[in-house]
Amino acid sequence: MSVSHLPEPAWLATAIETFYASGLVVLPTTLDTALCQQLLAEAQQASLQPAGVGRGQALQLNPEIRRDHTLWLDGSTAAQQQYLDLMAQIQQAANRRCFLGLTHHEAHFARYQQGDFYQKHLDAFVGRSSRMLTTVCYLNDVDSGGELQIYSEDDQPLLQVKPQAGTLVLFESARFPHEVLPAHSTRYSIAGWFRID
Ligand code: OGA
Ligand code: MN
Repeated sequence: MSVSHLPEPAWLATAIETFYASGLVVLPTTLDTALCQQLLAEAQQASLQPAGVGRGQALQLNPEIRRDHTLWLDGSTAAQQQYLDLMAQIQQAANRRCFLGLTHHEAHFARYQQGDFYQKHLDAFVGRSSRMLTTVCYLNDVDSGGELQIYSEDDQPLLQVKPQAGTLVLFESARFPHEVLPAHSTRYSIAGWFRID
């Protein structure tokens, strides 16, 4: 669906301003409750697979690095379509304000069960990846554990995000190292990337 005719909501303009200034923005209660619940139900019913490390031919399972289970969104349900439409709106706003030339978005459901983690990593390396901007949206609330720990470019702890349903995080993929701390209870999210291809 084309979203070019939709007016840009005020929260999105503000979010992109913050992102433009700092390369990172955390947006609580961005997904509405009904959409979040539908996506959560889909994630809970989906047959998620152990996530790999690396890309293409080099993709390997490595439970010392990451232990989440994932499944790519294919836009086959109304809820996924609604989520991907929101990402398209964000892509358009980011391209307008930050001149990023983003061409598309890919996203997967992810589940971290008790004890699962994802060690500190970057989602992209300058000049070696077409992943430009990372999005993470949380689908359920957790009391403790499973926090997203983000580090600064010089590797100092910068900010911790506690997964709460509807919170959306955006950051530059090649700029901020980050990790998922061990989950204490099951944690569902959608992680995605805006790319230039
Ligand atoms: C990832 C990732 C963070 C999170 O999937 O690459 O860093 O909070 N996810 O789920
Ligand atoms: Mn990551």
